[in-house]
Amino acid sequence: MEVERVQAIASLSKCMETIPSEYIRSENEQPAITTLHGVVLEVPVIDLSDSSDEGNIEGLICEAAREWGIFQVVNHGIPDEVTSKLQKVGKEFFELVPQEEKELIAKLPGSGSIEGYGTRLQKEVEGKKGWVDHLFHKIWPPSVINYQFWPKNPPSYREANEDYAKRLLGVADKMFECLSKGLGLEPHEMKEAMGDEKLIYLMKINYYPPCPRPDLALGVVAHTDMSAITILVPNEVQGLQVFKDGYWYDVKYIPNALIVHIGDQIEISSNGKYKSVLHRTTVNKEKTRMSWPVFLEPAPEQEIGPIPKLINEENPPKFKTKKYKDYVYCKLNKLPQ
Ligand code: SIN
Ligand code: FE2
Repeated sequence: MEVERVQAIASLSKCMETIPSEYIRSENEQPAITTLHGVVLEVPVIDLSDSSDEGNIEGLICEAAREWGIFQVVNHGIPDEVTSKLQKVGKEFFELVPQEEKELIAKLPGSGSIEGYGTRLQKEVEGKKGWVDHLFHKIWPPSVINYQFWPKNPPSYREANEDYAKRLLGVADKMFECLSKGLGLEPHEMKEAMGDEKLIYLMKINYYPPCPRPDLALGVVAHTDMSAITILVPNEVQGLQVFKDGYWYDVKYIPNALIVHIGDQIEISSNGKYKSVLHRTTVNKEKTRMSWPVFLEPAPEQEIGPIPKLINEENPPKFKTKKYKDYVYCKLNKLPQ
């Protein structure tokens, strides 16, 4: 069955003032009505280069993880060229013509795997759709990579993604260490709870084509990430929104920063001390927005629950312990956890 790509719908609706009704959100979701306009939210920005003050970096990361569930890091050690290259090859893939070039790595229906080029991820409320196409493929560890889902075109796609993946490992380890110490644990314990070297780095590219009615549509609907943490680079087009104190806000972008989301698995393992952040994305009338989140996910069989050392009589477990794959199944099917 042919899947209708949002990119195709966008090019058809370019000269129109309307969008198909399945992209029009209900009023309680429409960005024009539900966004607090005129303010951009400045989420914490943490400078990782300040090595004279390790303790402070750790404190800031943990505070941001507790209070916000999202923060940006700058001077993170990933050279700008590496990120620009990642963005360039991703954009080239989505702009390949003819469309069949992209369909070569389309997600296989019924395969049970998330990897590949695709259009809709979750069953959405009231059958509404998000204004976004995507590509998923694992980028680390090498033993789990399925190159069949990596674009062959542009030819430098593979090198650019491999370079980025290697650089990202250091940033990820730093995040886990800080989050671990912030709970009074040994530096390695948080990553250990996530399965250590079995942790999977899943790349997603979101491609949000221009939308004639950005006031009515959403890219990705409100959600918290299922991952342990997500590390993301956006392109220059505004669109990430965070829910804070009852309102949706646009997040202020910092050039060359990485955006870090605390995901559900860190919230669970910290027994609720760190919070996963509720976020969504809006789309733009003239410009294509793109983003490159990498989800750091436990392996499917990994058991995740509140870390035993954090539990005592005053702090009973707030979450069940379960395999990551069971958590994902319940979340995607909107079943209680
Ligand atoms: C997402 O949360 O899935 C997308 C984030 C983004 O595009 O900035
Ligand atoms: Fe997300």
